[in-house]
Amino acid sequence: MFPFEYFNPVKVVFGEQQIEKSLSHLVLPNEKVFVCSGQGSAERIGVLSKVRAALGSRIVGEFAGIEPNPDIETLAEASKQVRAADATFILAVGGGSVIDGVKLIAAQAKLNLSDPWQIVTSRGRKITDALPYGAVLTLSATGSEMNSGSVVSRKASGEKKSFQSPLVFPRFSIIDPSVMLSLPLRQVINGIVDPYVHVIEQYLTFPVQAKLQERQAEAILSVLLEESPKVIADLTNLESRKNLIWAATSALNGAIGVGVPQDWSTHLIGHELTARWGLDHAQSLAVVLPSLLRFAVDSKGHMLQQYGERVFHLKGSDVRLEAIQKTEDFFVAVGAQTKLASYGVSSADCESLASDLARLYPHGIGEKSEIKGQDFLTILKGCK
Ligand code: NZQ
Ligand code: ZN
Repeated sequence: MFPFEYFNPVKVVFGEQQIEKSLSHLVLPNEKVFVCSGQGSAERIGVLSKVRAALGSRIVGEFAGIEPNPDIETLAEASKQVRAADATFILAVGGGSVIDGVKLIAAQAKLNLSDPWQIVTSRGRKITDALPYGAVLTLSATGSEMNSGSVVSRKASGEKKSFQSPLVFPRFSIIDPSVMLSLPLRQVINGIVDPYVHVIEQYLTFPVQAKLQERQAEAILSVLLEESPKVIADLTNLESRKNLIWAATSALNGAIGVGVPQDWSTHLIGHELTARWGLDHAQSLAVVLPSLLRFAVDSKGHMLQQYGERVFHLKGSDVRLEAIQKTEDFFVAVGAQTKLASYGVSSADCESLASDLARLYPHGIGEKSEIKGQDFLTILKGCK
């Protein structure tokens, strides 16, 4: 196992009616709260009215309109409004995009950089201060509610990039599973695929004798495999939903990733698919992962065999390819598309993206930085 530091200060308040029961106690009485939300769902499903009822006159301003794959321009405008309102605390009400957006807003509200995109290009190193904030989660998928990472887009230049800083952990996150019963099927599917891939990218690398992390990763994958079909068959099944939701938070709160090699190449390639062709984040992952695993079947061989045996209970001296097929079958069974053709992406598009990726990552990506050059085209051809 590699040496590691682990720090996670997020207070999680999980359960039905926790907005009504806990929000007003989680925010100090003298805070001046600025509420940030997405493009209308939080209003429609009544979450914002519960937030207003809980915080009353502590709310000094609201910004609605953070879009999926939040754009730096929108976030820059929101942070101006937060500063103008002289807010002391921000409340993010939404899914991963709103919470990620608030991570940037909270930093920019303090830093007031002339170009807030520098927060992203510095990968968070520019963040020396940030307003405190809390989150009310309305879409479980990304794990943003319990981590310090954020993914921001700059739509003007077609970029989508991540940053991280310990200064942008939420102070608390309220996770009320009943709030997510309003999610459309597409977002429920996204909420299965995204955490599944988060676990795979911290697990399917090379073994370093990290026994607990391996078993924890396998446990999360097993829960996703068991509970997802029940949720897809009955979108009102709240008990199975709760298990998916906590699995999603646990997939990216840092615990399973400590002391182990990680491989975020499915995400890095997926972000480009989102930036170019507008696939939802999780849709991009469902397309890339099976092909990437087939490409890396040898370099990830040991862990793929263990994954097949322990997670899918496969028997045989070489179950690696079968385990990858089972993964793709699972995505298809819950309703995800695993081919780029479903999104109208052509062979010529793939070629141009592959050469851009080779330029973007000249030193390679993956746990051993082995994916580079022509490999991007091989992987993208496998997604067609
Ligand atoms: O904009 P609103 O009106 O809120 O609607 C949203 C949006 O259209 C809607 N929605 C949210 N809660 C709802 C709801 N609709 C009905 N009922 C509800 N209860 O769902 C749509 C998608 O929302 P979004 O927040 O974009 O989805 P998600 O949570 O999947 O977040 C995706 C973003 O997170 C980033 C992705 O790259 C992407 O930008 N990620 C963040 C990570 C992190 N911070 O650790 C890691 C992830 O790998 C990921 O990259
Ligand atoms: Zn993700």
